[in-house]
Parts: sequence; C-alpha cells; structure tokens
Amino acid sequence: MMSNLFDVVVIGAGPGGYVAAIRCSQLGLHTACIDDLKGENGKPSLGGTCLNFGCIPSKALLESSENFERLKHDFGSHGIGAENVSMDVQKMLLRKGKIVSDFTMGIAQLFKKNKVVSIHGSASLLGRDGDLWRIGISGSEEICSKNVIIATGSKSRNLQQVQTDGVQVVDNVGALNFSDVPRRLVIVGAGVIGLELGSVWRRLGSEVTVLESSPLFLSAADEQVAKEALRVFTKQKLSIHFGAQIGTVTQTPEEVTISWRNSQGEDQELNTEKLIVAIGRIPNTQGLGADSVGLKLDSAGRIEVDEYCRTNLPCMFAVGDVVRGPMLAHKASEEGVMVAELIAGQVGCGDLSFVPNVIYTAPEIAWVGKTEQQVRTDGIAYKTGKFPFLANGRARAMGDTGGFVKIVADAETDRILGVHIIGPMASELIQLGVQAMAFAASSEDLARMVYAHPSLAEVMHEAALAVDSRTIHI
Ligand code: FAD
Ligand code: NAI
Repeated sequence: MMSNLFDVVVIGAGPGGYVAAIRCSQLGLHTACIDDLKGENGKPSLGGTCLNFGCIPSKALLESSENFERLKHDFGSHGIGAENVSMDVQKMLLRKGKIVSDFTMGIAQLFKKNKVVSIHGSASLLGRDGDLWRIGISGSEEICSKNVIIATGSKSRNLQQVQTDGVQVVDNVGALNFSDVPRRLVIVGAGVIGLELGSVWRRLGSEVTVLESSPLFLSAADEQVAKEALRVFTKQKLSIHFGAQIGTVTQTPEEVTISWRNSQGEDQELNTEKLIVAIGRIPNTQGLGADSVGLKLDSAGRIEVDEYCRTNLPCMFAVGDVVRGPMLAHKASEEGVMVAELIAGQVGCGDLSFVPNVIYTAPEIAWVGKTEQQVRTDGIAYKTGKFPFLANGRARAMGDTGGFVKIVADAETDRILGVHIIGPMASELIQLGVQAMAFAASSEDLARMVYAHPSLAEVMHEAALAVDSRTIHI
C-alpha cells in the first residue's frame, strides 16, 4: 500500500517535474510525482508536453519531412536518383508515436529505478497541516508532503475568435497528427511552433500561409539572423504576412475561412483545410487550488518565484513553463535539479543566464546570450565577428552552405556576450557557445582553440577570429 507521507511531492511529470523527482530521490528524499496527462492512446503517459505533444514528436516529424524534401530536391546533386518519391503519412505518424511511447515508458522505468512513486491523477493544493502540505488527487485521495514542487507546465493559447476542435482548427497536439497532408494550411503565429510545424507540412506538400500580428519577425533572435531566416523561409515558399489582424473565423465541414486585415489596412480572406493556432502558451494553474492556499501568481498568471524558484509559500517551489523565463524543456529540467538540491540542503545553482534557444527549421537557428540589438540598447561598447558556412569545407561537402555564425563580444574585455547561428547543425554547434560563455571565455579563447578539420565547428573558430578581423578563409 502507498504511504501517504512524502518528503517531496512533485506536481507534473514534464521535463521540469520528472527530472526534479528523479534528482530528489537520488538525494535520498522520499518522493512522489503526480501527473494527469493521457497520451494519444488515452492511457497515462509521463513526460508532459515535451515528450507527448512537443519537443520529441515535433523533431521526429521535422526529421521525416526533411529527409523527404532532401530526397526529392537535394540528393540529385550527389548522383542519387530516386523516382516516384512518396510519403506514407500514416507510417511517419506511427514512427513518431513509437519514439514518443518508448520515451514515455522510459520515464516510467526511470521512476521505478529511482523509487519515485508515480501517481496518475489531477493534483490540487488543499492546505497546510503543521509542517506538512496536504495534496488532493483527483478529488478522492489525499497525500501529505514536507515539500511541494509545482511543475504543471503550460497549454496552448486560444484565439478569441475560435476554439480548437482538434480536427480543423488545431493547436500543437492536432498539428502533430494530421492524417493526410492538407492541401492548404494557415498558421496563426510566426513563432517557434508556427515555423517548425509549418516547415513539416510545407515540405510534405501543403501550401502554407502564416499570419503574424507583429510587424517584426523572430524579435528575440539577433536582427541579422532573423533577416537571413526570413529570406530563406520566403524562398522556401513559406508565405508569412506581418502586422496581420485576425477578424472572423468561420467553418464548414470542408474548410475554414479566415477574415484578416493586412499591414496596409486592407481586408483579406483565406480559405484553408486546416488552421493551426500557435500564438504562444499560457501557464497551467487551472484546478491547482492556488487561490485557496494563497499561492501568488504574477500578472501573466505564472506562479511568482524568486531566482531559486521559491514561491511565496513555505516549502513550496515552482519550475518550468509555469514560472517566468523561457518556455524551454532544458530550462525546466535545470530548475528542477536546482530545487531538488536546495530541498536536500545543497547549494542549488540559480544561474540560468546561458540558456540556449534553438529553432529546428532548415536551416536551424540557435543562440545564447545577448543579441547585437540588446547590447546596443544596453549601451555596451561591443564588437562582432561573423563567418559564413559557405566558406567551410564540411558545409560544402554536406551541400548545406547557407547561414553564418556571429559572435558578439565586449569591446573592452573581449568577453563573449552572445553567439548566434543560422545554418546546419546550429542546434549542436550552439553548445560550444554555451560552454564558452559559462566559462566566461573571450573571443580570443575561442580563436586560440584547435578545431577538427573539416568540421562545421571551424565556422565558430573563424567567427571568433573575425571579431579581431583576422579570418583566414575569407
Ligand atoms: P510540461 O511539459 O507542460 O509538463 C507539465 C505536466 O504537468 C503535464 O503532463 C500536465 O498534464 C501536468 N499537470 C498540469 N496540471 C496538473 C495537475 N494539477 N495535476 C497533475 N498534473 C498536472 N522546448 C525545448 O526546449 N525544445 C524543443 O524542441 C521544444 N519543442 C516544442 C514543440 C512544441 C510543439 C511545443 C508545444 C513545445 C515545445 N517545447 C520545446 C517547449 C517544452 O515542451 C516545454 O518548455 C516543456 O515541456 C516545459 O516543461 P514543464 O515540465 O514545465 O511542463
Ligand atoms: P511564440 O511565442 O514562439 O510565438 C507566438 C507568435 O504568435 C508570436 O510571433 C506572436 O507575435 C504571434 N501572435 C500572438 N498573438 C497573435 C494573434 N492574435 N495573431 C497573430 N499572431 C499572433 O509561441 P509558440 O510558437 O506558440 O510556442 C510556444 C512556446 O513553446 C515558445 O515560447 C517556445 O519557447 C516553446 N517552443 C520551443 C521550441 C524549441 O525550443 N525549438 C519549439 C516549439 C515551441
């Protein structure tokens, strides 16, 4: 029988929660993790948004669709001929589903191995009894814990004009599961989800139109990277309209009609088979009982926390998408580890200054630290070094020569302030930048290291040399 008294109860088994729970158990704390998510098969499934409807399934589809596109358009130059190339969407979805279920079952095994008590149900905070928090599970059971870590994540934001129905008007969950390639696809929001999932379905043959309310593209990215990305995506026939205001959205069984106003104030109309709404995500605090225990939320509805993820209540912490900061899996996990170590009496590291961002389009986009425009606004004297993949032997051999690496460094100290990449394997290369920044490296440090030849990392080397105007290969 399950004991109902724990050292730590974690609410949510996404990358914030499951990692926190495993680390707590490793540190000798008696830990339970409660999660309410059901996977595509309707059964309890650990791993949260990331594993079930986010990072992992989207990357599986990005890989399949990129292979399809490369086989159709790029492999000819290698001398590889392939006629009648086809895509079996059902098979692609099955592959994605298998990757997801292997991973989610893997978390169940990790819980077992680490003696984390896994509970399926919806958790709510009932109150405090002496030094213990009382937590309800699906309104029937009750458990108690000395500490609580809330990792309830986020959910898709809806358009005011229309509710998602999972079939015609969808969020990320539906957009990962179209059973056929829609002929026409409209996406509201040119953010990370819009670009990644728009790329998937465009590569498979959809005519994709993206409606973005902001006049700016990828405003969190470096301006030069965003400009290059827009140039490439436009060339790929991803049609993006900026400054778009959505009007009415109407549906018939065959199609969705979206009335919208363009940046010149002209009324427009689009008919589409499917509409993906990707306009950001909102913190998940519904049903948690935050009000009833006096848990403070900020103006955006996130749980308010300090740099150590402590809430306003004793022995209650919150991590991941449900708190401030970027909504990223690795940020959630590192916060989970930090809190577990704090609870165990260790010095949890609260510095999340060097969280990498990656957009898994082709070319990939990745950055860490400050953009050039941020440094300019902060009034810091700076210098930059930029180097294109076009001049790199490995990129040429791969036939993937678009984009560049850009390094922003302090003009006086030479310390690296930001690294920005658009190009092949940017998701892997960015870790060089993260490491350099975490060790407070200068651009000279990166310039003086030896890089394997031929490798894409040599572009990072040359970008570091470019900070001091001494590139070799340009
Ligand atoms: P979640 O993963 O959302 O997990 C929260 C869990 O808590 C869920 O299982 C939820 O059902 C459960 N829960 C909520 N309330 C309760 C309750 N009251 N009781 C019990 N359980 C509850 N990030 C990246 O870093 N890289 C990527 O490539 C990436 N790709 C993405 C692609 C898509 C399409 C989407 C939507 C997101 C992507 N993200 C990516 C973001 C990433 O998924 C999130 O940042 C991450 O999942 C946040 O982790 P979390 O643990 O905070 O919350
Ligand atoms: P986002 O914040 O990246 O982009 C939303 C976009 O929608 C913005 O450009 C915004 O200006 C626009 N928008 C907002 N309201 C609108 C409206 N009414 N009409 C038209 N446009 C509107 O959010 P997105 O793409 O939904 O992703 C959510 C989160 O998931 C991201 O913050 C990201 O952190 C995470 N994610 C991370 C990925 C990765 O790391 N590779 C992949 C996918 C998601």
